[in-house]
Amino acid sequence: MIAGLFSFALPFLHALDPETAHQLTIRSLGLLPPIAPPRDDPRLSVEALGRPIPNPVGLAAGYDKQCEVPDALLSLGFGFVELGGVVPKPQPGNPRPRVFRLRSDEAIINRFGLNSHGLEAARVRLLARKGRPGVVGVNIGANKDSGDRIGDYAACVATLSGLVDFLTVNVSSPNTPGLRDLQGEAFLDDLLARVGEARGESRTTIVLKIAPDISLDALDAIVATALRRGVDALTVSNTTVSRPASLRDAALAREAGGLSGKPLFAPSTRLLAETYLRIEGRMPLIGVGGVDSAEAAWAKIRAGASLIQLYTALVYKGPGLIAGIKRGLIRFLEAERLASITEAVGRDAHRIAQGDLG
Ligand SMILES: Cc1cc2nc3c(=O)[nH]c(=O)nc-3n(C[C@H](O)[C@H](O)[C@H](O)COP(=O)(O)O)c2cc1C
Repeated sequence: MIAGLFSFALPFLHALDPETAHQLTIRSLGLLPPIAPPRDDPRLSVEALGRPIPNPVGLAAGYDKQCEVPDALLSLGFGFVELGGVVPKPQPGNPRPRVFRLRSDEAIINRFGLNSHGLEAARVRLLARKGRPGVVGVNIGANKDSGDRIGDYAACVATLSGLVDFLTVNVSSPNTPGLRDLQGEAFLDDLLARVGEARGESRTTIVLKIAPDISLDALDAIVATALRRGVDALTVSNTTVSRPASLRDAALAREAGGLSGKPLFAPSTRLLAETYLRIEGRMPLIGVGGVDSAEAAWAKIRAGASLIQLYTALVYKGPGLIAGIKRGLIRFLEAERLASITEAVGRDAHRIAQGDLG
C-alpha cells in the first residue's frame, strides 16, 4: 500500500527540483506509522554479512544520508538498507544544485560531496532504533577538510559499531577530492587495519565499497588487501566519473559528479564479475549500479552478487519496483529449478567478465 502511494506521487515529485523532491520523500517516509515489512518467500533468504537476510534487494547508500527513516525504508520491502554516507563532523557538502536527473538516460549525476549532519546525529538516531528488527548498515566517509582521513573512518567505526549490522567503508565517492586515493594499496592497507582495530570486540561486519573506474591491476590489489585485512564483504560499485558516449542528455552529462543508473549497469556488472573471479568465494559481494528490474538483479547475481542494492531506479520507477524484482527473482529460480538465490551466484561470472551480458 505504501509503495502504491509513493508511486502515485511520482509525477508530482518529478515536477520539483531533485533535491527538494528527495527531501519531501524522506519527510513523508518519516510520517509513516510503523508497519511490519511484507513477509518474504523463504527462497529469497540469503545468508550474508553474518546473518540471514530475508531478501537480496537492498537500498544503496545516499538515499537516507542522515539515518532518519531506516524502518520506513525496510517497510517498503527491502531486505536490508544502507544509510549514510556519514562523516564525523557535520558538513554542508557542495553548493546546490548538486543533483541532476538525466531522464532520457534513466540516470542521475550527483555531486553532493558527503553532506552530513555528522556522526553524533547519526549515533543518536540509530541508538533510538536499537533492537528493532531489520538489517541496517551505515556508509562511512571522511570529512572534506580532515587532516586525518583514516582517523575519520576509525572514529565512525568506533562510534557506530554495535548500533548497526554492518558498516561500509566508502573509499569510492567521486565528490570528495582525494577520497578515492584511499583505494591505493598502501593507504587501503593502513585504513583497513585501523578500521579493524576500531571495531574491537563488537566484530561489526565491515564492507568495502569500490569505484567502477579502476584498472584490473588496482582491483587485484584491492581484493588482496581486503582479504588480508579481514574485510567481510565488497560492494561493487559506487557512481562513475566516466560519461559513456551513449548518453542522450548531452547538456546535463557535462555536469561534474558521479553518474548512476542505467548507463552504470554494464560497467559495474562487468567489474562485479571480475571481482567475483578474484574472490573465489572467500567473501560475499554486493552488486550495485543500474539495477532497475528483476532481469538486471538476476544478471548481478549471476555475475557474482549475493546481495544487490539500488538507488536511481527507485527515483524513476518508485517503490513498487522492489516487490516486482522479488517476484521476478522467484520466477527465475523456478525456471532454472534452483532452490535459493545462493545457487545462482556467480554462474555467469566468466561470460560477464568478458563483457557478454546476454
Ligand atoms: C544522490 C546520490 C547520493 C549518493 N550518496 C552516496 C554516499 O553517500 N555514499 C556512497 O557510498 N554511495 C552513494 N551513492 C552511490 C549509490 O549508493 C550507488 O552506489 C550508485 O548510485 C549506483 O547505484 P544505482 O545505479 O542503483 O543508483 C549515491 C548515489 C546517488 C544517486
